[in-house]
Parts: sequence; C-alpha cells; structure tokens
Amino acid sequence: MNILGIETSCDETAAAVVRDGTTVLSNIVVSSLKEHARYGGIIPEIASRRQLECISAVTDEALFKANCKLSQIDAIAVTHRPGLIGSLLVGLSFARALSYANDKPLINVDHIQAHVYANFLRCPNDPPEKPLPTLPAVALVVSGGHTNLYHCKDFRRFRLLGKTLDDAAGEAFDKVAQILGLGYPGGPVIDRVARKGSGRSLTFKSATLKGRHDFSFSGLKTAVLYHHRDHQNDPDFSVDHVAYAFQQSVVTNLTEKCMAACRQLKLKTLLIGGGVAANSALRQELLLAADQNGIEVFCPPLSVCTDNAAMIAGLGYHYTTEKMGVAHA
Ligand code: KG4
Ligand code: ZN
Repeated sequence: MNILGIETSCDETAAAVVRDGTTVLSNIVVSSLKEHARYGGIIPEIASRRQLECISAVTDEALFKANCKLSQIDAIAVTHRPGLIGSLLVGLSFARALSYANDKPLINVDHIQAHVYANFLRCPNDPPEKPLPTLPAVALVVSGGHTNLYHCKDFRRFRLLGKTLDDAAGEAFDKVAQILGLGYPGGPVIDRVARKGSGRSLTFKSATLKGRHDFSFSGLKTAVLYHHRDHQNDPDFSVDHVAYAFQQSVVTNLTEKCMAACRQLKLKTLLIGGGVAANSALRQELLLAADQNGIEVFCPPLSVCTDNAAMIAGLGYHYTTEKMGVAHA
C-alpha cells in the first residue's frame, strides 16, 4: 500500500511516498529557513507564502522520485496539527483538493506523534538488517515547539506523560544560540561548537521537577543570559564552554526523565524524535544510559529527525481501512 504524505506545519514544504508504513520510496523537503534567519525565528507569513509557491512541485517530485503515479497512491496523509495555522492550511487545503479530485482517502496525522513514528521507517541509506522497535515504549519528542514524553501503547494510543511547562528544548537551543550570537537555528550550531568546549569550569542546572514527567527550560535559558551578561568580557570567557555547559544540562535532564519514565512504566524500549533528537550529545548520552539500564533506545536517521513527510505517510498507514478498518474522510 502506497501512502503519499504531505507536511507543512512550520517552515518546511515536504512530500513523501512510503510503502506499507515502512519503506521510504521518496522524501522531499524544501525549507524556507534561510529567509527567516535574519529575524532570529520563523516568520509565519513568509513560511506559508513559500509553501503555497512550492507545494505542487514538491509533491510532483516526491511522486517522480518514488517512480509512482498518482493512480498508484492508495491514500493521502497530511499533518493537521499542531503547527503554524497559515502553514497547516496550505498543506491541508492542497491534500484535501488532491484527495477529492482523485477520489483518494484523506488521513489526518498528528505531527508530534509522527516524529515518534520516524523510528519505524526504513530509509534508503539504512542497512537492510536495521532492527525496528516494537511497542509499547516510552517516547520523547524534542522539537522547536514541543517537548513531550509519551507512553506509546500502539500507533493509535499515545498517552502524554509530561511536557514542557515553558520553553521547548529546541526553543531553548535557539534562544541560547541567539544570546551567544551564534545565529539561527541554534540547535545544529550549539551541537557543533559544544564539541570544542568542556564543563570543567562551568555548569548550569535544568529544573528537575522531581516526581513529575514534565520539563522546564526557561530558567536554564535565563541562567545562560545572566552568565553572558556578567562574564562576556572576562578574559577566560568562552562561547564554546557556555554552549557545552548549556547543552550538557539539557541532555542530562532529558536523559534522566526518559530513564525515570522507563523505570516507572517498566518498559524497556525508548524512542526519540524531533529536531533535537539530531543532537549528537543527546544521542550519545541516551545510548549510554540505556545500556546501563538494560533499555533499548532508538533514534531516527538524521534525514527523518527534523520535519519531513515520510513520518506522516508512515503513521498515516496505520489509520487506513486496510490496516485498522477506518479511514478519515
Ligand atoms: O522537529 P523540528 O525540525 O521542527 C519542529 O517541529 O519544531 O525541530 C526544529 C528544532 C529547532 O529548534 C532546532 O534548533 C533543533 O530542532 N535542532 C537541534 C539540532 N538540529 C535541529 N537541536 C539540537 N541539536 C541539533 N543537532
Ligand atoms: Zn517537527
């Protein structure tokens, strides 16, 4: 069964074709990120205008790369929430029109849950023997707008255990990068410069919110802001060390929360997803902690960590008539 996925929740315009919920036949992502960089964040109006301009070509490209005609598509899956309203509307309207005109079922998919699903995809560069996870599992989604911890029972039952009370993990990366003058988006650049830093002389603490599965990163962000304000002219001040200490604090906090949830629910599988799941220190630390706790951790390949439509098509498959007995009209 071939599903065409469409994703336009933030700055990306993405389309993909996925076979039987797993095999990624094509995965096209066009981003307007560069146009937003000078504003230090996404400008919704710019994002939706670009999406309107390129959604049709991106979809054609996804079908072409998959060597698939529209007649060979069984259903269309589209991100319907959460996201920027103007951006979501572009993808949703396009997918609805395509579905109506070609008499294909339309499936609405939750973007955050789809980030978890990225772990179940087989991408073209994956080794053929790559093991796929099984459910139930604990799942952490760390993106620019969300930090959600789930008890994932099956593909249709995601129970929210905890979420951020203020800034999302990715948002904290972006804001701290701005404070340190590193540009936008902050995650990849902090990941890079932190490799040159160390935590010997500086540490920051994230809020632990003991006994809860929730997160809070705004205090950490403010601690970095004050440290920068008070010490940026010190002779031993180093952006690399600050980036390292900030990143380490987020990574430790996320890792501890994931391990605590696995322990409490007595689950041995941990899935991560979302843009921050591309962070090299987070991947390393989670693997280490999981190993020590007898837990198997899955991180999606980098190509499907950040926003993409393959994860939408993949999760959409589990909502089709063939799979579950119902399709959303
Ligand atoms: O999932 P995503 O592509 O879009 C949303 O749904 O928000 O996540 C984007 C976020 C941004 O905040 C970006 O700074 C962060 O993911 N990010 C990273 C890395 N790559 C992207 N954060 C930390 N380390 C990275 N390597
Ligand atoms: Zn996302």
